Amino acid sequence: MSPNRVSPSIFAADFWALGEAVRLCEEAGVDGIHYDVMDNHFVPNISFGPKMIADLCARTSLPADVHLMIDLHRGIEDYLSLPVEIITLHLESLGKEGHNLLKTIRQRGKKAGLSLKPATPAVAVEPYLDDIDLILVMTVEPGFSGQKFMPEMLSKISEIRKIIADREILLQVDGGVNRETYQKVLKAGANFLVIGSAFFADSDPKNWAKQIHEEQTA
Ligand code: DX5
Ligand code: ZN
Repeated sequence: MSPNRVSPSIFAADFWALGEAVRLCEEAGVDGIHYDVMDNHFVPNISFGPKMIADLCARTSLPADVHLMIDLHRGIEDYLSLPVEIITLHLESLGKEGHNLLKTIRQRGKKAGLSLKPATPAVAVEPYLDDIDLILVMTVEPGFSGQKFMPEMLSKISEIRKIIADREILLQVDGGVNRETYQKVLKAGANFLVIGSAFFADSDPKNWAKQIHEEQTA
C-alpha cells in the first residue's frame, strides 16, 4: 500500500503571501497543493480561478489537486488546460453529463476525483467507480476553511473504504483536519489528507507531514 499523502489547502493561506506559503509547503515535504475553486454559486464563497493555479504551478513542482466547488454548466475547459495532477468534481454538481466529464478529465491526462458533501451518502459513489481515481469525503460543509471537523463523517469514510475494496482509488478527506483529528481520519480508512488552516498555523509542519507519511494506513 502506498504511503499516505498530504496536501495543504492554499485557500487557507494568507493571500498576501502565497509565494511564501508555497515555499513552506515545499520545505515541509508535503505531496502536493490542494486548490479550492469556489464560484459563489455552488458554494456561498469565491476563492480564485485558473490564473491563480497556473501562476503557482509555474513556480513549484508540487503536484496540483484542484477541488472544483463550482456550477459545471460552463464546462471545465479552463481547468483541463492547466498542468494539474487531479481535478475533482462534486457529485452534487454533476448532472447527467457526469460520467462524460469524469472521462474527459482522464482523457486529458489528469486523475478524476469525485467529492461528496457531508449530506451525500457513501453509496452515491457506486455508479462512478470505473470513472474515478479519487474520492474526496468532505468533513465540513464546502465553502470555507477554518471550520470544525464533523466526526459523524468518520463512519462514512470507513463505508467508502469498504466500497472501494481493492480498487486503486485514493480516499481523500478535506475539512477541519488538524492534529487532533488526522489520526482518526487515517484509521477510518483515508490515505490522502487535505489540511488548510491547521497546516499554516502549525509550529512544525515538516514534522507533522513526516508523521502522516509514517502513520500506518488502515
Ligand atoms: C472547504 C475546502 C477545504 C478547506 C480546508 O470548502 O474544500 O479544502 O479549505 O481548510 P481547513 O483544513 O481549514 O478546513
Ligand atoms: Zn478542498
